[in-house]
Amino acid sequence: MAYLRNTWYVAAWSHEIGEGLFSRTILGESVVFFRNTEGKVIAARNLCPHRFAPLDRGRLIEGTLECAYHGLRYNAQGKCVFNPDGDGRVPAGTRLTIFPVVERWKAAWIWMGDPSKADAALIPDYPFLDTPEWHPVRGLLKVRANYRYVIDNLLDIAHVRMVHPTSIYCEMLSKGKTEITREPNGAIWATRLGVNGAPPPLFAVMWRAAGLGELSEHMDHWADARWDAPSLILNHVGITMHGQPREAGLEAKNTHFITPETGTTTHYFWTNCRAFARDDVNLDAAILSGTEQLFVHEDEVMLNAVQEAMGDREFWSMKPALLQADVGPVAARRALDKLIADEQREASAATKASITEVVSP
Ligand code: FES
Ligand SMILES: [Fe+2]
Repeated sequence: MAYLRNTWYVAAWSHEIGEGLFSRTILGESVVFFRNTEGKVIAARNLCPHRFAPLDRGRLIEGTLECAYHGLRYNAQGKCVFNPDGDGRVPAGTRLTIFPVVERWKAAWIWMGDPSKADAALIPDYPFLDTPEWHPVRGLLKVRANYRYVIDNLLDIAHVRMVHPTSIYCEMLSKGKTEITREPNGAIWATRLGVNGAPPPLFAVMWRAAGLGELSEHMDHWADARWDAPSLILNHVGITMHGQPREAGLEAKNTHFITPETGTTTHYFWTNCRAFARDDVNLDAAILSGTEQLFVHEDEVMLNAVQEAMGDREFWSMKPALLQADVGPVAARRALDKLIADEQREASAATKASITEVVSP
């Protein structure tokens, strides 16, 4: 499975990494996480270089990671600093791979590519995830499908009629036209507006919680999605009375951080953020259960069925038919295809150059 490697993926919500060891498979590789003595998140390959024991079976001793098999200890830079056996000398070949990690927006982001290229400034901005003005409800779900089907699904409005008929389907939005715009940094916006109709049922809960009065059959509804490489989606979704400015209605900012676990399974980190009714715990519970119901019982079931039907066949080789609403998913798919192909071309050119250097007299 080809992944974009020189990029940031969300590895965990910050609160998941506490005082002990925590492991998760990312891009097909098991990674162990812990906090060093300063509280910084460290991510290491979950495989001891000695006899390949999983290091998450070990323990932390003064900021070092002790392997449970023969007791070698590794520091936060991956250097083996203690060997309890024999004369205590540390043998060659005991270097543990450490992956760059940045904690931002209440999440731990991991870089699984060339560490020298890891630049924290490449993580997109989601300031509403870390400010008192906005209140996020967040969760993590597992999807039994390749991550690229999850991206497709989140950018695809046409499936909503069939898969979510009683929760977020909205007739007026289904009649809107998706517009695509591109930002200089490669981000792609897919925006859609529905005008003068009834909003979807899930919005009724939020509208009431925001104290905006009665809903109307004559409202406008927007659903704007921004895709950032490789698999980060930001949604602005909202409703307002027909013809009124967006600011007069309500808008939720939702994020969907998609991280490949394996070729056929995905970690789905989601948030639903609001700047109204921030202390409403009943609304939190409704959003949490509504989102999980929506995704687990509706999207995930279909995504898993698609995965099983597709097997390991390559998407474009299947010559998919395209709907008008596929314009967003296709734009993001092509952009990611190009980034992966460029990265692989660069990696193979670098390999050829180093071989030439070794064999030339
Ligand atoms: S396998 Fe880890 S110390 Fe031997
Ligand atoms: Fe969906």
